[in-house]
Amino acid sequence: RTRLPNFHTLDDVCEALKKAKNILILTGAGISTSLGIPDFRSSTGFYSKMRNLGLDDPQDVFSIDVFREDPSILYNIAHMILPPDKAYTPLHSFIKLLQDRGKLLRNYTQNIDNLEANAGVLPEKLVQCHGSFATASCITCKYKVPGEVLFPNLRSKKIAYCPFCAAERKALLQKYDKMEDEGIYSRRFEQINSFGVMKPDITFFGEDLPERYHNFIKEDIKKCDLLLCIGTSLKVAPVSEIVNRVPNDVPQILINRDPIDHCEFDVELLGYCDQAITWLCGKKLGWKINHKDFDKVLNS
Ligand code: OAD
Repeated sequence: RTRLPNFHTLDDVCEALKKAKNILILTGAGISTSLGIPDFRSSTGFYSKMRNLGLDDPQDVFSIDVFREDPSILYNIAHMILPPDKAYTPLHSFIKLLQDRGKLLRNYTQNIDNLEANAGVLPEKLVQCHGSFATASCITCKYKVPGEVLFPNLRSKKIAYCPFCAAERKALLQKYDKMEDEGIYSRRFEQINSFGVMKPDITFFGEDLPERYHNFIKEDIKKCDLLLCIGTSLKVAPVSEIVNRVPNDVPQILINRDPIDHCEFDVELLGYCDQAITWLCGKKLGWKINHKDFDKVLNS
């Protein structure tokens, strides 16, 4: 072991949870799968369903370059990942419980489903590292609207356009149609497809993370006294790098269905996160998670 030599049992985990005052929780898609929302990289995950789109890499559905060339790709698949109304899991409620006990420094979530808010996690305790569906913006002029405004379009796979860019878009399309008729072709034509298109404020590959991430991460890494990584494969940087940036004397715990070979933790609880955390809280710590399924999961 190259990490903390005296930290490797469940009792160590419980003691750390009791003592900690500034817990940094890093979460991923695995904390929402019990609601039927697929994660990304599992064999039945979201990316496995993207193989018939003709993309080189299924992750390209979230590539900003691909979106600029053909926004219809996102509009065709987004209905599969739209967040359910009001739902949240026992794991989301565990995050809220840590907040209520004054132990939550911050939840860095890679999830775009915004379910932390449903569970009552306060905006100031949350960093949505990859953005979310909560708002949407015009890719050209940045005009912002509440995310729900776009939901009917995303559900019916119809591209939504920005009202303020409509006239310019029309003029551009006419201009380029004329040029095409004259046999003139430019790669810029492809970019016209996305001129004035509304895009959910999800961080795409090729885009910078939200400012909020950069504003908080440096200080939070210094402040945190316990790191919990839950339901993430830790495959996407820079969020995956948080694990290595946390000081060496801070215990790091993984709760995940699958092991993660490229990072080192003090304790790994491998299994379903709702069950692991409900068992830890219910049976070892005597903490009741305020969730309708707490007793059911505890006795399962
Ligand atoms: P992944 O799909 O890469 O990883 C999810 C992890 O959760 C896997 O390691 C699973 O084993 C685990 N898992 C699944 N169900 C679980 C459960 N019930 N209990 C415990 N563990 C479970 O998803 P992320 O790591 O979140 O970007 O992916 C990171 C980013 O990649 C996402 O934010 C997304 C994607 O491209 C955007 O949406 C922009």
